[in-house]
Amino acid sequence: MAAPLPAEAGAVALTAQNVTIRFGGVVAVAGMALDATPGEIVGLIGPNGAGKTTFVNCICGTYRPNAGTALWLGRELLGLSPHALLKLGVARTFQNVASLHDLTVLDIAKLGAAVRAGSGGFFASEKALEAELTETLLRPLHLADVAHTPIQTLPYGRRKAADLARALAAQPQLLLLDEPVAGLTSQEGMAMAAVIRGVRDRFGCAVIMVEHKMDVVMSTCDRIAVMAAGSKIFEGLPEEVQSDAEVQRVYLGEPG
Ligand SMILES: Nc1ncnc2c1ncn2[C@@H]1O[C@H](COP(=O)(O)OP(=O)(O)O)[C@@H](O)[C@H]1O
Ligand SMILES: [Mg+2]
Repeated sequence: MAAPLPAEAGAVALTAQNVTIRFGGVVAVAGMALDATPGEIVGLIGPNGAGKTTFVNCICGTYRPNAGTALWLGRELLGLSPHALLKLGVARTFQNVASLHDLTVLDIAKLGAAVRAGSGGFFASEKALEAELTETLLRPLHLADVAHTPIQTLPYGRRKAADLARALAAQPQLLLLDEPVAGLTSQEGMAMAAVIRGVRDRFGCAVIMVEHKMDVVMSTCDRIAVMAAGSKIFEGLPEEVQSDAEVQRVYLGEPG
């Protein structure tokens, strides 16, 4: 799997500034800024409609923002296609996972692996690739027993895990997760959070994690940014976020 980034520990790998996107009259993301460092899990929280998913969509090439910059190891990401971003080591998971017809879990992981830079010819055979994906990803994600099961027949939690396997198979150095534990039971959510921390520990990638479940956010993230109405309103350590009065007012006090 991917070697850790050749960046020095503590070096900023992603610097997003002034990211702004409008849909008609709606400014969905307004002057958003966020940094991420190799080996760091950055939480992105905020009320529904704050612009979290749209911000991720801007960084990951789904949307082209009206303004802003997002430098990844010195290269501009904004405006690149998702495929070009994957080649640069930037991968994401989706808030809502679609079931891709009769593809199996292993097929999904192989789709992710297909975009690896220079993947052609590295594995002696299809079998070698399948064995590697099974051992390094499906087993830790508790998917090895359903590797050959069509994804659409699996419960939601397993489909979310398969989507994470797809993203990880690309060997990302920057991983953006949009609500990775949404729709999972609290036990499944904690297991997923442990996997995400394990991925960070093992591969040293930078992780940006949008999430609503505060117990998962607080126990998983090294740093947390809070968005409201398209902008960052606060950033700090988990305990600082929890004790900030403004964050309490706009977010933590809200149900759900
Ligand atoms: N494609 C789009 N067209 C119009 N409005 C959009 C589009 N995508 C997002 N928005 C709007 O942007 C705002 C932020 O949405 P979103 O990023 O999904 O919030 P969050 O993920 O924080 O819940 C919402 O008001 C949403 O309606
Ligand atoms: Mg969202």
